[in-house]
Amino acid sequence: MGMESWRSKFISLRCFIFLILSFIATHCFLFVQTQALAQVDECSALLQFKESFAINKSASPDPLAYPKVSFWTREGDGNQSNCCSWDGVECDKDSDHVVGLDLRSSCLYGSINSSNTLFRLVHLQRLDLSDNHFNFSQIPSRFGDDLSSLTYLNLSNSLFSGQIPSEISKLSKLSTLDLSFNDQKVDDRIPLKLTNANMRSLVQNLTTIKQLHLSWVDIYSTVPDILVNASSLTSLQLGGCGLNGEFPIGIFHLPNLEVIDVRHNSNLTGYFPNFNRSNALKYLNVAHTNFSGQLPTSLGNLHFLIVFVISSCNFHPNVPSSIGNLTQLSYLDMSSFASDNEISGQIPSWLMKLTQLTTLSLDGNNLQGPIPRSLFQLKNLEYLSLFGNNLSGLVEFDQFSKLKKLKGLDLSNNMLSVEIRNDLSATLPKLQTLALGFCNLTEFPKFLKNQSELTMLDLSDNYIHGPIPKWVSNATRDTLSELYLKNNLLTGFDQYPGVLPWTNLIFLGLGSNMLQGPLPVPPQSIRFYDVQNNEYTGEISPLFCNFNNLQALQLSNNNLSGMLPQCLGNSSVLEILALHNNFFNGYIPPICPSKTSLRIVDFSYNQLQGKIPRGVMNCTRLKVLNFANNQMSDFFPSWLGALPELRILILRSNGFHGVIGKPATKHEFPNLRIIDLSNNGFSGMLPSNYLEIWNSMKYVDENRRTYFEVNSDEVGGKYFSSDYAMTISGKGVELKYQKTPYLLTLIDLSSNRFEGEIPEGPVGKLRGLVLLNLSNNSLTGHIPSSLGDLAALESLDLSQNQLSGRIPSNLAQLTFLAYFNASHNHLSGPIPLGKQFDTFQEDSYEGNSDLCGKSLPKKCEDSESSTRPPPSIVGEDEDSVFQIALDWYVVVPGVVSGLIVGVIVGNIWTTKKHEWFVETFSRRRKPRGTRARRGCRT
Ligand SMILES: *[C@@H]1O[C@H](CO)[C@@H](O)[C@H](O)[C@H]1NC(C)=O
Ligand SMILES: *[C@@H]1O[C@H](CO)[C@@H](O)[C@H](O)[C@H]1NC(C)=O
Ligand SMILES: *[C@@H]1O[C@H](CO)[C@@H](O)[C@H](O)[C@H]1NC(C)=O
Ligand SMILES: *[C@@H]1O[C@H](CO)[C@@H](O)[C@H](O)[C@H]1NC(C)=O
Ligand SMILES: *[C@@H]1O[C@H](CO)[C@@H](O)[C@H](O)[C@H]1NC(C)=O
Ligand SMILES: *[C@@H]1O[C@H](CO)[C@@H](O)[C@H](O)[C@H]1NC(C)=O
Repeated sequence: MGMESWRSKFISLRCFIFLILSFIATHCFLFVQTQALAQVDECSALLQFKESFAINKSASPDPLAYPKVSFWTREGDGNQSNCCSWDGVECDKDSDHVVGLDLRSSCLYGSINSSNTLFRLVHLQRLDLSDNHFNFSQIPSRFGDDLSSLTYLNLSNSLFSGQIPSEISKLSKLSTLDLSFNDQKVDDRIPLKLTNANMRSLVQNLTTIKQLHLSWVDIYSTVPDILVNASSLTSLQLGGCGLNGEFPIGIFHLPNLEVIDVRHNSNLTGYFPNFNRSNALKYLNVAHTNFSGQLPTSLGNLHFLIVFVISSCNFHPNVPSSIGNLTQLSYLDMSSFASDNEISGQIPSWLMKLTQLTTLSLDGNNLQGPIPRSLFQLKNLEYLSLFGNNLSGLVEFDQFSKLKKLKGLDLSNNMLSVEIRNDLSATLPKLQTLALGFCNLTEFPKFLKNQSELTMLDLSDNYIHGPIPKWVSNATRDTLSELYLKNNLLTGFDQYPGVLPWTNLIFLGLGSNMLQGPLPVPPQSIRFYDVQNNEYTGEISPLFCNFNNLQALQLSNNNLSGMLPQCLGNSSVLEILALHNNFFNGYIPPICPSKTSLRIVDFSYNQLQGKIPRGVMNCTRLKVLNFANNQMSDFFPSWLGALPELRILILRSNGFHGVIGKPATKHEFPNLRIIDLSNNGFSGMLPSNYLEIWNSMKYVDENRRTYFEVNSDEVGGKYFSSDYAMTISGKGVELKYQKTPYLLTLIDLSSNRFEGEIPEGPVGKLRGLVLLNLSNNSLTGHIPSSLGDLAALESLDLSQNQLSGRIPSNLAQLTFLAYFNASHNHLSGPIPLGKQFDTFQEDSYEGNSDLCGKSLPKKCEDSESSTRPPPSIVGEDEDSVFQIALDWYVVVPGVVSGLIVGVIVGNIWTTKKHEWFVETFSRRRKPRGTRARRGCRT
């Protein structure tokens, strides 16, 4: 052996190392080259992705939004480009693969489908496309098939729609999935949907999920109970998902869970468990659900709790004082405990221990007594709302100077008297919202002079009199967007009004005052304009045609006159056009010349002429059409039968005439519930073919809501809902409804020239009917006994016809019948006996010389007496029968339809202010101080 072999060995070793090194080098080079090519491919995929969208500012509502992709460019020749430095792009340090793409709020507008180059970025781990406008695209299944490395996926608030593909559950590495707020209801677009089964497999397969956010996705199923095993879960947001069934109580015990948000699931039941001290919850929101039961004392164990919202649930109103132990609590909303469960007593003293509170809402309960002075020790309060309780006593407004951080205050609708010193201005914090409705104010508070940040001011229902002073508007000229002054004694504006001084006004509520002169002209921004019940005169200025945002124009009950501007119905956003009871004359301008958003058109009680504009045919969302008491002249507008949502049609007291023929199809007027054609010149037979097909009158809707309401389209997160006030005649008197009861179903064909018989079959099917008036026609034949089947009937007027024969004895079955009039016919025989019929007086029958009965001058022979109805049907006494009946309000003229302003619920952590607004305004204003009087029978 020797040197030689050593050398050869050395050489071969060198060769070997060399070979190895060169091998590595070549392969590394190849490897690096492959890598570079792959990266070039990813960069061009990104560029093509960019090209597939338009840049559109309005696609991203976030004020900080900017188009990140517009800075993406290919520098030098293609191979050199490195997209890793592009805004929003993140690459892996070693492999250079694109692993993160953050295009949140990037103004992207356009559709995204399965051929999008996004799906070539197979190494993506974090993808945020939230707050863009994907034009109602479906979420492509390739998200699940191709992007299997994803740990973070955020597609919230991006206008995706349709079914969420089941492939999403293949993303087993996900720790964050956010698909919330894809629910913008534009036309007939469907929001995102998730089937029950897909929800289950999501939870089953995403075993490391931490944040599961599906708020406002249509799920409509139960909360899968396997969620109790999702031990990594930190945040569960399922607000507004249509959830039902019982919320699995085990979820509350998940060790890492910090956020539970299941608000706005009205069919979701649930209870709070006994919370133990290790519970990590920071945020708990079950507002507007059917959670019930006792609030456990152990709530005091939730030491980390910052936000606690239990408004509009069904909890027992005993609130444990242990909540006073939650020293971190910053946001507490216990408003609107369900109507039977209102929190009563004084404002609880344990509240004063919650020194971190920034928001406190106790709206809509039954709290009594004064506002305690200790409340003003909550120095961090920013929002305080005590709206709609029974609080009483004097409030020295000075006290609020102690709350230096206060931004929003609502004391409305209590029994409080608010006393405001004139020199208070300097010390008060600058407020953004202030509501002092029903607070016994007699003048505008002087401190408003210094309130230069107010966006909302509500001084409704006070005794503020005289003109609105200039200084009220000076400070708020640019900030104020909502002004509510209804129900005061205001006469006008200090300065000649002409144009309203606020430049950004959106909501204006000046109803029920004594305002005079020409209509004040609002700024361009106006969406809601309500000046009903005032003394305004003059014409509607053509300027009103230029308000492109106007959704509601409510001018009813003024002294306005002249012709209506031609452009009035042109707008594509106008939803409510209420001109009731003025002196408008001339022809009705074209309305709905193309598809529009009109829902309520009320021109009643004016002096309008001519025909119903045929353009109404295009008002496909119309729910109410009221032309009562004008001088119009037209045939029966059978073409209205095609309007799918028309619910209320009132043509009373005009010159409508002719024979009402047959419906063109069996599906005409599918939603009609109220039709009043009375006091016109209609002739021929009663429209039995229509009576036959008015299906919505054939049943009593069990899902009854209290009042008929119209919700406006939501714009920028805000919407309003309006009740509908109307006048009808019923029960022998004129009835003014300040709100239309949801179940009110009526047919009034009285005072026309109808002849022939009452069609027995069709009439008997209208079992939802509450009021039927066929009086003052030329009807002949018998009263059909099928009327006895109309179990909901409260008022039946057949007077002043030529009806003959007996009054069917089974009408006595009608337990709600409170008014019956068959006078001035040719009826004969005994009058029915029994419950309600024992209460009708002689005038119900007069002018029928052959009728007999105990209460009539002519007594019956024994052989004639009618049989009583079976006893099971009667039973309650007359008063209680009437109690169950619908509310009839005979109202002093001048009471306006209500208004609720609401806000679509925003994202929880970022828009607390929104939440505040939601809870402040989206509830029904309690009818306190209302001038309505119940009952009407005499
Ligand atoms: C911008 O997007 C909105 C929808 O958010 C759309 O209505 C509008 O037409 C778009 N504008 C352009 C120029 O594409
Ligand atoms: C949005 O989708 C509609 C079809 O639903 C299409 O006509 C329109 O071109 C799309 N807009 C964009 C910007 O992709
Ligand atoms: C998703 O994006 C939105 C912004 O568009 C943000 O508010 C939200 O917190 C994100 N979700 C998660 C879970 O990070
Ligand atoms: C949760 O996991 C446990 C143990 O793996 C299992 O026994 C139980 O059935 C699971 N619960 C549900 C609701 O799936
Ligand atoms: C919690 O509150 C209750 C009642 O207010 C009190 O008795 C109890 O001592 C408090 N517990 C703690 C740990 O502070
Ligand atoms: C209904 O709308 C269409 C356009 O959408 C229009 O062409 C038509 O004239 C309208 N009909 C009436 C009667 O105004």
